[in-house]
Amino acid sequence: MTAIRVALAGAGNCAWSFTQFAALAQADPDTRLPGLMCHTVGGYRLADVRVVAAFDVDAAKVGRPLAEAFTAPAIAATAFTELGGDRNAPVLPAPVLDGLTGPLGSVVQAATAARDATPEDVAKALVEHDVDVLVIALPTGASRAVRMFADAALAAGAAVVNCTPEELARDEDVSRRFADAGVVLLGDDLRSHLGATCLHTALIELMLSRGLELTSTYQLNVGGNTDFLNLADAGRSASKFTSKANALRAAGMTDVDGVAGPTGFIGHLGDSKVCFANVRAKSVLGSEVRIDIKLTVEDSPNAAGVIANAVRAAKTAADRGLSGKVDAPSPLLFKSPPRGLPESEARAAFLGFAS
Ligand SMILES: NC(=O)c1ccc[n+]([C@@H]2O[C@H](COP(=O)([O-])OP(=O)(O)OC[C@H]3O[C@@H](n4cnc5c(N)ncnc54)[C@H](O)[C@@H]3O)[C@@H](O)[C@H]2O)c1
Repeated sequence: MTAIRVALAGAGNCAWSFTQFAALAQADPDTRLPGLMCHTVGGYRLADVRVVAAFDVDAAKVGRPLAEAFTAPAIAATAFTELGGDRNAPVLPAPVLDGLTGPLGSVVQAATAARDATPEDVAKALVEHDVDVLVIALPTGASRAVRMFADAALAAGAAVVNCTPEELARDEDVSRRFADAGVVLLGDDLRSHLGATCLHTALIELMLSRGLELTSTYQLNVGGNTDFLNLADAGRSASKFTSKANALRAAGMTDVDGVAGPTGFIGHLGDSKVCFANVRAKSVLGSEVRIDIKLTVEDSPNAAGVIANAVRAAKTAADRGLSGKVDAPSPLLFKSPPRGLPESEARAAFLGFAS
């Protein structure tokens, strides 16, 4: 199989964990790595992924080789392994736009080169690095920057994986422009590998499968990385609340008092994320069933597990001549795909596509 050439828009925590996951696979392509759901997707192994470039705005990252950029102070995700061949991929400047709006602006200083960068520079770099797939892992709420990267990928003919909750794949105009240009667009908002959404929707689906009637639910999430710092600003987190509600609705939640979202930044948690979820339902003779769970995960590796599937799905879709939004793999990979499905159907659709 040829390599999949990946660029990262945002060399942050998710990007760092994903690059390490690819490095582990490259070092030993046939080992079964924990958390790697599919050894091949469309014939591609994770070992076939190469990170060839990244874009960022952080003065501690721009202009450095990738391996050095991932030691910047804003990185909270654990270093599990050294990078191999991808370690020298360049971190290029990108226009800042709304990337550092809110609390992020107090911990990340924009590089001068980023203040001068243009969208045309980004598109040109994608062509020069012969990028197959652009992974957009920018801060939530940076809708202008996310759109700018989508336009640059469109101009360069690179498929897009939108890890953020900003609307791309579910925006009909955007997905039509990608379809017309023959470019693949997957999104929106990663559904973490085994995270809060996956577990919460599984509980809801279990209750509904036994004929129970949901009465209320909530999902509270706290963490200590820059994603949570950014999401602590109500102006930045609105799209995340909407996206999580979309995922619960796809699981069958209707007309129920439900709340799900990021609910706090606790710095000492670092890259740990803690989720408290509660689901209440009415069962036989009106009796109450109530489930309370606490889930603790490392946030960024949990994203890397999904990105590993999403980049291979994007390249597979492009190889098959698909373009615009692609329905089959998206409901398993994203919280807010253009068309959501319950988990069991989403998994079957993804595995059918991947085989
Ligand atoms: N961690 C997960 O499991 C998970 C799950 C679902 C969705 N997501 C989403 O993935 C996205 C990335 O999360 P993260 O934890 O990696 O965030 P992060 O804060 O660690 O990384 C964001 C990166 O984007 C950079 N950036 C800001 N503006 C930019 C611009 N204009 N151009 C280029 N780079 C810019 C920042 O400097 C930073 O390096 C977020 O939107 C998050 O909500 C993450």
